[in-house]
Amino acid sequence: MQIVTIAAVAENGVIGDGKDIPWKIEDDWERFRRLTTGNFLLMGRSTYEAIGRPLPNRTTVVITHQDDFEAPAPQGKTRVLVAHSIEEGIRAARTARGSLAKNIIYVAGGGEIYAQTMDVANALDITEVKLSPEGTVHFPEIDREKWLEIRREQHETHDYVKYVPVSHTARLTLVPATPADAPEWTKLASHPVVAEQSAGLRVRDEAEAAERLARRAASWDANSLDQWTIRRTEDNEFVGIGGLRRRELENGDHVWLLDYQLVPELQGNGYTPEMVRAALEQVRQVDREARVRAMIRPRNVKSIEIAEQAGLKKIEERTDPSGQPIHLFQGWVRELV
Ligand SMILES: NC(=O)c1ccc[n+]([C@@H]2O[C@H](COP(=O)([O-])OP(=O)(O)OC[C@H]3O[C@@H](n4cnc5c(N)ncnc54)[C@H](OP(=O)(O)O)[C@@H]3O)[C@@H](O)[C@H]2O)c1
Repeated sequence: MQIVTIAAVAENGVIGDGKDIPWKIEDDWERFRRLTTGNFLLMGRSTYEAIGRPLPNRTTVVITHQDDFEAPAPQGKTRVLVAHSIEEGIRAARTARGSLAKNIIYVAGGGEIYAQTMDVANALDITEVKLSPEGTVHFPEIDREKWLEIRREQHETHDYVKYVPVSHTARLTLVPATPADAPEWTKLASHPVVAEQSAGLRVRDEAEAAERLARRAASWDANSLDQWTIRRTEDNEFVGIGGLRRRELENGDHVWLLDYQLVPELQGNGYTPEMVRAALEQVRQVDREARVRAMIRPRNVKSIEIAEQAGLKKIEERTDPSGQPIHLFQGWVRELV
């Protein structure tokens, strides 16, 4: 389940004044209703009371220290749960009756709850309000080292902006892939060593790369997970592209394809397993009930070793459209290491 923070934030960071929100944007409220319906809302007791009623067709998880805080009885699809910490609230949503892996836990404020969930959120869905009103409650600062803007939809009085996380491993900075990475990827993919190694990732020119990367960015937006552009943190050197790509199956299910292309001169440094561990950690957070697959050429011994170390098992031997042998490895996310 993804945890997505949803908030309307003024230019000066204000999100509220006392109990109130110092603006009224119909379109934003309607969008909030549309996105959150059928999903979970995690909110502080003050915000819950400021709204004054359980929002319909959603499960609201109210966070409070009060042991005797009573939730109203459920009415159809409108439910309220009570939790006494953020962790308990997230667990309550994940284990609630009828809770599905595709449901989203929307962190819906207020200031105290936003501040305590910045490290667990998988995405930020921010309505940037083009005002600077007076107010007593603020949104935490969005650290650009940790968050990448993946989408911006502009309106006259406000913009809808989506942020997804930049991940950091011991030596690597993993930035969600976007069309801006097309020139580096095209150059990398045309390297004969990389073309020879790659089973799934092929790219002919920059336009094609940009088009494919736009799909990766859209998947980040929808799933809080997809491929990264991999950089060495120390000097920002481009290391390659890789991670998990969502692939829809004909039966309506989906899998996450693990693949990567690394600059040949930088291979052999252990960067791949470092990135793979981060990818598995990310999928564990947002899509625990899914499967991960990898398509690997049998002669690519190193990649087979990495896949097996992660817990993937060979399930099929095939030939690809070019007639070359390819082995399919697979594992359930919850069983991978
Ligand atoms: N612009 C937006 O998108 C937006 C969205 C939501 C809210 N808001 C605004 O935000 C303001 C409310 O924010 P706020 O910061 O004052 O309050 P809040 O975050 O809504 O709620 C704070 C309350 O949550 C409970 N709480 C917080 N952390 C907890 C924890 N770790 N464990 C257990 N309980 C915990 C406590 O309840 P108890 O006191 O009961 O223990 C605390 O008093 C209002 O102005 C509202 O309009 C704006």
